[in-house]
Amino acid sequence: MGIVVSPSILSADFANLERDVLAIKEAGAQWVHIDVMDGHFVPNITIGAPVVKALRKIQDIKLDVHLMISEPKKYVKDFISAGADIITFHYEAQKEFNMEIIEEIKSSNVMAGLSIKPKTPVCEIERFIPYLDLVLIMTVEPGFGGQKFMHECVNKIADVREYARLAKKDNLFIQVDGGINDKTAKICKDLGANSLVAGSYIFNSSNISAAINSLF
Ligand code: DX5
Ligand code: ZN
Repeated sequence: MGIVVSPSILSADFANLERDVLAIKEAGAQWVHIDVMDGHFVPNITIGAPVVKALRKIQDIKLDVHLMISEPKKYVKDFISAGADIITFHYEAQKEFNMEIIEEIKSSNVMAGLSIKPKTPVCEIERFIPYLDLVLIMTVEPGFGGQKFMHECVNKIADVREYARLAKKDNLFIQVDGGINDKTAKICKDLGANSLVAGSYIFNSSNISAAINSLF
């Protein structure tokens, strides 16, 4: 399986969102990463389902929605209706409903992802791996773009790769988010990651296309 690059629009120009998404698509990004924050699960507020719905009008790029919200069970249907292709929510948010939320996403033919924060060990989500399309390993504390990559999280990538092998899930996407640049991307890919999220590295670059291509 090749590498999927998912630029995070958190670092894009919100006044020119269509222009920026077209630019990353043109540069070869297959997904666009949309960070949804509620000011409660994380100490920041960003965007919601109406923005996902608006971006749905752009063709040929998958909408990769990352829910950093306290009540994914309550809001997941809004993101399904808005046209998300992939919905990833946090394992830590509503532990009692994790399986129910995964089933709801999958029954709508949307890809289901589960994310863990830096302090959560991979063994806690092992039992969900057979049902998931994607596991997202955070390499910063969720909430803000432009933070420093936490090297202490990288062994989790190999752990997920091993659990995926045991579960015979060769097609599982192992995504890494936070502090990704050309150097940290290489570390993640070597350990088995195949989907890379990058915000500030791409959008703060003077050459968006070169930045995206340096991650493949
Ligand atoms: C952080 C978000 C990330 C963020 C990454 O909570 O989930 O997707 O945009 O930003 P960079 O790539 O700048 O670390
Ligand atoms: Zn994200």
